[in-house]
Amino acid sequence: FKQKTAYEIMPSLVGSEMCIRDSNKIVNSWNEWDPLKHVIVGRADGTCIPAPEPALDAKVPEDSDMRGTYGPRTKDTVDKANELLNNFSNLLEKRGIKVDRPTPLDFNQPTSTPDWKAETMFGCMPPRDVLLTVGNEILEATMSYRCRWFEYLCYRPLLKDYYNKDPNMRHESAPKPRLTDADYRKDYLSDKIGVTKRLEWTENKYFVTTEEEPLFDAADILRFGKDLVVQHGFTTNLKGIDWIKRHFKDHRVHAVNFPGDPYPIHIDATFTPIKEGLIINNPQRRLPKEQRKLFEDNGWEIIDAAQPAHNTPPPLCYSSVWLSMNVLVLDPKTVCVEKSEKYQAEQLDKLGMEVIPVELRDAYAFGGGLHCCTADVYREGTLTVSYTHLTLPTICSV
Ligand code: ALA
Repeated sequence: FKQKTAYEIMPSLVGSEMCIRDSNKIVNSWNEWDPLKHVIVGRADGTCIPAPEPALDAKVPEDSDMRGTYGPRTKDTVDKANELLNNFSNLLEKRGIKVDRPTPLDFNQPTSTPDWKAETMFGCMPPRDVLLTVGNEILEATMSYRCRWFEYLCYRPLLKDYYNKDPNMRHESAPKPRLTDADYRKDYLSDKIGVTKRLEWTENKYFVTTEEEPLFDAADILRFGKDLVVQHGFTTNLKGIDWIKRHFKDHRVHAVNFPGDPYPIHIDATFTPIKEGLIINNPQRRLPKEQRKLFEDNGWEIIDAAQPAHNTPPPLCYSSVWLSMNVLVLDPKTVCVEKSEKYQAEQLDKLGMEVIPVELRDAYAFGGGLHCCTADVYREGTLTVSYTHLTLPTICSV
């Protein structure tokens, strides 16, 4: 029996007198394009179509096949989605990328807090929505739907393990929101609001969520080294952006919005950095001129993304056809694109990227595309500064 040293029992005691070896470093990712070495890939098990609730009703279009139905998705569709997610994980592993998977909960059960009750939860296919990795920190987002309030629990076994093994890892959780009715605008729930009205509202930054308390989903945030770019929309409010700004004190936080999107939820089918200096932007949701300055003044190119290959999303899917641009960059020369998205693949190929086709369309309904169904744990690289010319209007100042 060998007695453990204090350092072995509590690695965080390791101080300046001891050198921390790199092999202890598990969490490290500063941007969306550095070489990926370790990632979480979601699972489809038990995913539910959530019961109606204020934030969700506003996202489901009037003619959606999901209106009026909720509960577990069928076994066939779950099995198919899992097959695709498993194949994707295997492909990443074959390329030397370590893959971890979440632990699903029983999502088909009611949950409640003292403030509300929800009939079902959602699932754990899109870790990107919940977890934000910035450097050595993984932050659990507040989330903004009641059915997703407990979703972080699916990732806790992994985060606990990273925290135990990596003495420098920071495991943070944003303040859990109360999500009372005061968080949502009632007039947004009406079936009678057509797309024209919604577009007018979103252009005026009038969204379903109010400014009652900080709210954000991690998938509204893109990492560009020292700069974090955050979409203000349905799932992230200004108070949420301000919270992010106060939390990441050494970063610069920029609020952006994309008129043209009637359902602005998550930035990753709208604005996708491919490598240092290049972003593809959804041509139906172009970044407004004054907000482009931050990128263009610093020599970054923002180009229109290619058209999606499909006219409609798959059945019972929350996302739009623009999951075509929800790609996963493996390194500045390599990108995973959904197999059927031939135009997006062609465009990225012409831009000099090696394109890896990955079949995932039949998993879209479970929470999104290749970027959504992953969350970074480790990318090689350090904190860099992409923008030296800063234009004030884009800096969040709430
Ligand atoms: N909000 C994104 C889209 O559906 C995911 O386009």
